[in-house]
Amino acid sequence: MMKKTHSLITGLCAVAVAAGACVLFPTLAMSDNDDQALITKANALFKPLPDSAALENTPLTPLRVSLGKALFFETRVSSDGRLGCATCHNPAYYGADSLALTVGVHGKQLPRNAHTVFNTPLLIAQHYGGNRASVEEQAYKAVISPLAYGNSTNEQVETKLSQLGYLPLFKAAYPDDAKPVSIENWSKAIGAYERTLLTPAPFDKFLKGDAQALSKTAKLGLDTFINTGCAGCHNGVTVGGQSYQKFGITQDYWLVTGSTPKDAFKGYDKGRFHDTKNEADAFMFKVPQLRNVAVTPPYFHDGSVATLPQAVRVMAQLQLGKQLSDEDVSHIVSFLESLTGEIPADFAKVPALPVAAH
Ligand code: HEC
Ligand code: HEC
Repeated sequence: MMKKTHSLITGLCAVAVAAGACVLFPTLAMSDNDDQALITKANALFKPLPDSAALENTPLTPLRVSLGKALFFETRVSSDGRLGCATCHNPAYYGADSLALTVGVHGKQLPRNAHTVFNTPLLIAQHYGGNRASVEEQAYKAVISPLAYGNSTNEQVETKLSQLGYLPLFKAAYPDDAKPVSIENWSKAIGAYERTLLTPAPFDKFLKGDAQALSKTAKLGLDTFINTGCAGCHNGVTVGGQSYQKFGITQDYWLVTGSTPKDAFKGYDKGRFHDTKNEADAFMFKVPQLRNVAVTPPYFHDGSVATLPQAVRVMAQLQLGKQLSDEDVSHIVSFLESLTGEIPADFAKVPALPVAAH
């Protein structure tokens, strides 16, 4: 009965936090009972990763997934022949690229930091501005983006894919299509591959009831993360990625992050505003997921903050008007480390790519 009440209150608190009105819970001292209470409290805000992120009625067939993987690592489709998804979403950097700002075709600098590609099918939308509805749409548009792949038309991409020897692979993956090599199937296959890239973490075991899956400091950090109000925005299955929120609630973000204006945005990056042109969206950014955040520095949309402890302090100040103690910061960091997941077994294994037809 006690537990039930607790979880109900916590659930209400999750709603109230978003409205900035959450009452603080007293910090729990960690006994076995408290572990159970924390598991219940966490389950009201977060969810374990599902086993699959497949679209309904669209099975992730091995042929589609392996084609998607080949295309993910394929660089010959880009206009300078040097860049593919895996360049910027690199196995060596947990599906991100470790740069503050990403470098695209012909060495052009992109105005934003690359997200990790892991768990992204579970987000409400893709990109900081949410201008791509799904991972499939993201892949569809990336290949003709002037900064990323630099191709000018879909037909150009389809011709390249055929010349590179991809026809048999597309035919095998999409046997019922009159025109197997198409941009639609490029995006579906890459999407199918991305839908396999989930990274279960110790935190998932904890949510499922294994109190020992988190260290004592990680548990203190989880409790502090919730009580401070972080979970008002970073919640759900991906600990973020489920809503758009203003970045810089207490003051302009660049005063704290040291961000600089960007030519691409004719000033400071205003997030979703650049996609919708709606003033109400100025400085609204998709809340990033925090899964794997400890291993994907640097931080924020422009990589302006180098370390995780500093990113945590910046968040508390800019989003909640709070100064955290060093102890709180180190506990929260320890919790965030429990979100570092297991990379799918063969992610780092570069697949054999087709040989170009002559
Ligand atoms: C030149 C580097 C580069 C290449 C190539 C590239 N990306 Fe990205 N990717 C980025 C950057 C930068 C962002 C962040 C863009 C933004 O938010 O505006 C991003 C964002 C994403 C996201 C959104 C994740 C989220 O949390 O919202 C996904 C998914 C993604 N890329 C997948 C891919 C796939 C699949 C490919 C290949 C078809 C690809 N990317 C090619 C740099 C790149
Ligand atoms: C009001 C909503 C809100 C609250 C509360 C909030 N965040 Fe954030 N958080 C965001 C948004 C939006 C961003 C993206 C900012 C950007 O890069 O433009 C973000 C980014 C981050 C990042 C960087 C992620 C990355 O990959 O670059 C971390 C780490 C983070 N938050 C942790 C926290 C912690 C810890 C707290 C509590 C002290 C917190 N956040 C509170 C909305 C929020």
